[in-house]
Amino acid sequence: MNQAGGRRWHANITSKFLLILLPIVLLATLATVSVFGWLTVEKLRADLTLRGDRLTRFYATALSSPLWNYDLESVERTLRTLTLDPDVGQAVLSNMNGETLAQVGDSDLGAEQILFHATRPVEYKNNGATETIGTLTVRFSNLKIQSVLETEILIEFVLVLVLVGCLSLGSLITFRFIIFRPLTHLLLAIRSSRGLDALTPVTWSARDEIGEVIQAYETMRRTIVREEQARFSAQAAVVRSEKHFRDLIEGSIQGVLIHRDFRPLYVNQAWCDMFGYTGPAEILALESIHSMIATEDRQRLQTLYDQEIARERPLPIFEFKGIRRDGSEVWLQNANRRIEWEGAPAVQAVAIDISEQKLAQEQLLQAQKMEATGQLTGGIAHDFNNLLAIIQGNIELLCEDVGDDNALAQAIQRAARRGAELTQRLLAFSRRQSLHPQAVNLAHLADGLLDLLQRSLGETISIKVMSEDALWTAKADPGQVENTLLNLAINSRDAMPTGGLLTIACRNLHLDTDNAPQHPNMPAGDYAVLSVSDTGNGMPPYVMEHAMEPFFTTKSVGEGSGLGLSMVYGFANQSGGGMTIESALGVGTTVSIYLPRAEAAAVPAAALGTMHREIGRNEHILLIEDDPDVRTMVRVMLERLHYRVISVGDVAEAGRVLSRGSQIDLVLSDVMLPGGVSGAAFAADLAHSHPELKVVLMSGYSAEHINLEIAPLTKMTLLNKPFSLDHLSRSLRLALD
Ligand SMILES: Nc1ncnc2c1ncn2[C@@H]1O[C@H](COP(=O)(O)OP(=O)(O)OP(=O)(O)O)[C@@H](O)[C@H]1O
Ligand SMILES: [Mg+2]
Repeated sequence: MNQAGGRRWHANITSKFLLILLPIVLLATLATVSVFGWLTVEKLRADLTLRGDRLTRFYATALSSPLWNYDLESVERTLRTLTLDPDVGQAVLSNMNGETLAQVGDSDLGAEQILFHATRPVEYKNNGATETIGTLTVRFSNLKIQSVLETEILIEFVLVLVLVGCLSLGSLITFRFIIFRPLTHLLLAIRSSRGLDALTPVTWSARDEIGEVIQAYETMRRTIVREEQARFSAQAAVVRSEKHFRDLIEGSIQGVLIHRDFRPLYVNQAWCDMFGYTGPAEILALESIHSMIATEDRQRLQTLYDQEIARERPLPIFEFKGIRRDGSEVWLQNANRRIEWEGAPAVQAVAIDISEQKLAQEQLLQAQKMEATGQLTGGIAHDFNNLLAIIQGNIELLCEDVGDDNALAQAIQRAARRGAELTQRLLAFSRRQSLHPQAVNLAHLADGLLDLLQRSLGETISIKVMSEDALWTAKADPGQVENTLLNLAINSRDAMPTGGLLTIACRNLHLDTDNAPQHPNMPAGDYAVLSVSDTGNGMPPYVMEHAMEPFFTTKSVGEGSGLGLSMVYGFANQSGGGMTIESALGVGTTVSIYLPRAEAAAVPAAALGTMHREIGRNEHILLIEDDPDVRTMVRVMLERLHYRVISVGDVAEAGRVLSRGSQIDLVLSDVMLPGGVSGAAFAADLAHSHPELKVVLMSGYSAEHINLEIAPLTKMTLLNKPFSLDHLSRSLRLALD
């Protein structure tokens, strides 16, 4: 229906044109014909009137004489000639009295058939006087005029109709050519346009009004297209910049939140992620973001907000503790900025999660504190150890003299032993104890200790040992692992006064970059993990923070020394691993130690040989010890063991003894010596100069700690201070035989 050809007739300009034109043509034709007809009639009438006048005048003259003579036959003849004229319908001659004398023509002629009549008196001149003798009346018929008129009007009608029709048709054709065709072009162009930015141009040029219309359309089209394209590119720019904004803000790794008086107005995904919300909708539904701020930080943040809104001063970057959706804490570093948001001031907060840095910082501080404490304790313990060595050695010698059953001597011996144990634990914490690492299967070791543990823990506590199949062997001192297990189990027992479950779990752990952050200060690699878990009271945060520190205890005086966990900590670290504590109040505690994986398979636990004394065979021993008390004591011990002793206080003196060529079978030297040369370095020199000489080193420190990396020292024996007579005798025999 929209097509030009399919239009309804009244929607078509041509039909409208014809509809309007046809009545006009008809009316015009009728009017023209009427005017022409009327003019023709009037002309004929005028002609006839003139002719009738002439005719009557002529015949009145011609009839004058016959009438005078009253020759009616002649009169009638004359009158008949008159009726030969086709226009004449009737001729009547009457006398002065009005009586008809002669009448010719159509006697039935009706008044409606008479066009008009002409009357003239018939006169006769008699002796110079003119006398009227009758009246001639000629009636003209309209029949002839009518027929003439009908023919003429018909011809005129046809002619006018043809003329006006031709004119109309011509104008219609002209119209079609001048108006319709360009209009059709315009229509097709508009129809084929695919939008305001792609209006089809019209290829038509004419210097008439339609041409001007098309020209105006073209100008308008170009303007619209230009403006549309400009609008499109502006729109595209807006879309692009909005995308940039989205990428920048929504995809930002920093959390962005806009709020007015803590009512959230905008939030990005990173913020949601940091606080454990799935998406912005969840946060925007909150009345206030106060629930996302730790209680202790709320007032501070409110003050900062007020200052920011009042623009009192630009705010520095600050840190605060946030509360995640699940209630856990998250540390944030935050920068605030006052902005205008939807017509009113608001604050834009940009935050990053610094929980990991905070944790690392805390762990570093803790490690530094432990290191410093370790240094301090280690130093004291070492000196203390030397003193104990003197006490222990001398009391042992004394006991041999006065007899083993002397109560006083026994009391001193017991006190010295307890002191030695304590120092041992301190040395363990400061990672300076003497360790004998072996490949150990932690699960087997725990199994072996089960009986002892059950006895120590009592019946209210059940013990479960779990282990990963294919558990890796750990490289550690088995004695210290047992010690650790015992310590942890006793801690758990104390935390479960009404009983509970103690779980000893062994598992493998591969540390790499993914899980390393949870285990700072531990190098990447494979570890065998021993965990002791209980269902006890758990530790409050304060206790957890300090539990590993030496002498930290929550137990009453005499019940705990506070050295258990610190010893475990030191041992695990010295073994190349680490230790972690997880605890929840009212739920329980898990302490895990990580021990490096051993390359070799585990060796079955060797039965500790019973100590017995091996007497010397008068071999010559060069004793190097700077401390005169220790020197004296060791000297006495050696003599009692049937050795010959030359004792000196430093390396220089020892060198002189050797250069004198005195007979020496073995050098027994302290590791730490004054004068810049250590016993270890001196022993290394000896290995070159006197390769046949046996060397035994004495130290309060472990082999690792005194840096025995010098190759020949592998042949040497290390004797840990304090040592008993039996211990000394065995070490010497081991070295000499
Ligand atoms: N399993 C545990 N459950 C709850 N608290 C524990 C646990 N283990 C240790 N603690 C807490 O840590 C503190 C320190 O423990 P640590 O073993 O170092 O010393 P101690 O047990 O007090 O004394 P010691 O072990 O020297 O006899 C304890 O006093 C206790 O408060
Ligand atoms: Mg303890």
